Amino acid sequence: MHNSQDVAITGLSGAVVIVTGAGSGIGAATARRLGAAGAPVVLAGRRADPLREVAAGITAAGGQALCVPADLADPASPGRITQACLDRFGRIDGLVNNAAVIRHQPFGDWDTGCFDEHVATNIRAPFFLIQAALPALRESPIRSVVNVSSSSGTLRRAGQSVYGMTKSALDYLTQTLAGELAPLGVRVNGIAPGPIDTPIHATWADDLEEAYRWLGTQVPLGRIGAPGEVALWITLLLSPAAAFMTGAVIPLDGGQVIDRE
Ligand SMILES: NC(=O)c1ccc[n+]([C@@H]2O[C@H](COP(=O)([O-])OP(=O)(O)OC[C@H]3O[C@@H](n4cnc5c(N)ncnc54)[C@H](OP(=O)(O)O)[C@@H]3O)[C@@H](O)[C@H]2O)c1
Repeated sequence: MHNSQDVAITGLSGAVVIVTGAGSGIGAATARRLGAAGAPVVLAGRRADPLREVAAGITAAGGQALCVPADLADPASPGRITQACLDRFGRIDGLVNNAAVIRHQPFGDWDTGCFDEHVATNIRAPFFLIQAALPALRESPIRSVVNVSSSSGTLRRAGQSVYGMTKSALDYLTQTLAGELAPLGVRVNGIAPGPIDTPIHATWADDLEEAYRWLGTQVPLGRIGAPGEVALWITLLLSPAAAFMTGAVIPLDGGQVIDRE
């Protein structure tokens, strides 16, 4: 079985990292993992209570955390989050663009409001967060961005046209910015999870039990992943251990993408 917590990642002590969507799922696991590695963490998300809960766990374990409740669909949020980070910690060493929304519905059911929410949250926010963080990021010895994508950006799935499109676009952004920011020493990588056991599935599936059964059938390794398994790779990509890696989008999906028809 997986033992992601047993893998030690060093070199992030004191590195200030912004994590979006840090109140639940992969973002919460990443924030906890970073906190345990000695990195002060800035937790962003819409709902304050889950952010506070994760932050309380980090500080109780001796780490540092700052909660910034923010709706990433609001164009003002990237500037507000990075400014709050700088006001508190005076630096930005890493950024994890993890927050996203997903709706699973037939092509004909999409309206412009739902379409725009996906684009604003899944694409526009990561783009402008990187832009807002860049002046501080480029001064850091770590200089690392990780974008959380999805196997849905590669797979063809009925009902996921808009979500998949935003994740494909995020992968393009990862690769193109990796090249554009390389002269500044800023690394930009992505991680593309397959099915992971998080609250996100309740937001698109009417029948959660059936959704989990179906998701399990999509994975050659025969199980869905745990948030901590993704957090491990996000932390590794942020860390100096990945100093020669940029522009990579790593599939972390139990073989889902290689097994596609
Ligand atoms: N779980 C999977 O199977 C899977 C597979 C592939 C990729 N992913 C990706 O993994 C990432 C994390 O998802 P997860 O699975 O961990 O699900 P999750 O627990 O639902 O996390 C999504 C987070 O995004 C935040 N969020 C959503 N809209 C936001 C907005 N407008 N402004 C600020 N924050 C917002 C949510 O917090 P609030 O609701 O409080 O704002 C939530 O904490 C996403 O990018 C997702 O696409 C997940």
